[in-house]
Amino acid sequence: MKTLINEYRIQTRISEMAEEIDGYYYGQDWYRHTNEPVIVIGILSGAIFFMADLVRQLSIRTKLDFIRASSYPGETIIAKELKITDAPILPLRDAHVLLIDDIFDTGNTLRATKELLTWSSSKDIKTTVLLRKPDKAPSDITIDFVGFDIPDKFVIGYGLDYDGEYRKLSYIATLE
Ligand code: IMP
Ligand code: MG
Repeated sequence: MKTLINEYRIQTRISEMAEEIDGYYYGQDWYRHTNEPVIVIGILSGAIFFMADLVRQLSIRTKLDFIRASSYPGETIIAKELKITDAPILPLRDAHVLLIDDIFDTGNTLRATKELLTWSSSKDIKTTVLLRKPDKAPSDITIDFVGFDIPDKFVIGYGLDYDGEYRKLSYIATLE
């Protein structure tokens, strides 16, 4: 196990991202005029720590909700199917949503959850991830707020698991 991003760098970057995200919403006419809360939706389980640390640094108004998605090997290992097993509870019609995930890898998770939110008639969907593997990131879906671009290696910690374990680490490490 080798540390890739230590706790200090994660927390510093999250503060910067919170400023960026606040800045984006304070700059929106609808936010200034309606002062409606942004619905922040975390994708379980990986997003828990990133979401918890990020939302506590935001000064915009927020409501929190969750989606649980699980991918399992399909016909081939590469083309994984994605199952949404738990949908958000808050009403999403005309809502402004900030979707949070731990990592953007093949993009399947964010593509499927974004689609689900589009069906529920959310007005505006922004996305944020702590990590992105740019070598693999598909071009049809863009992430609005990215923490770190990392090499295409398997990482664990700060929400990310290997076989369900290591999520609680306060840093990101590569697993050799
Ligand atoms: P995507 O759907 O391929 O973009 O992958 C997103 C999901 O795959 C993430 O939410 C993670 O749960 C998992 N994942 C992708 N890369 C890694 C990794 O390096 N370590 C641990 N989990 C990963
Ligand atoms: Mg996972």
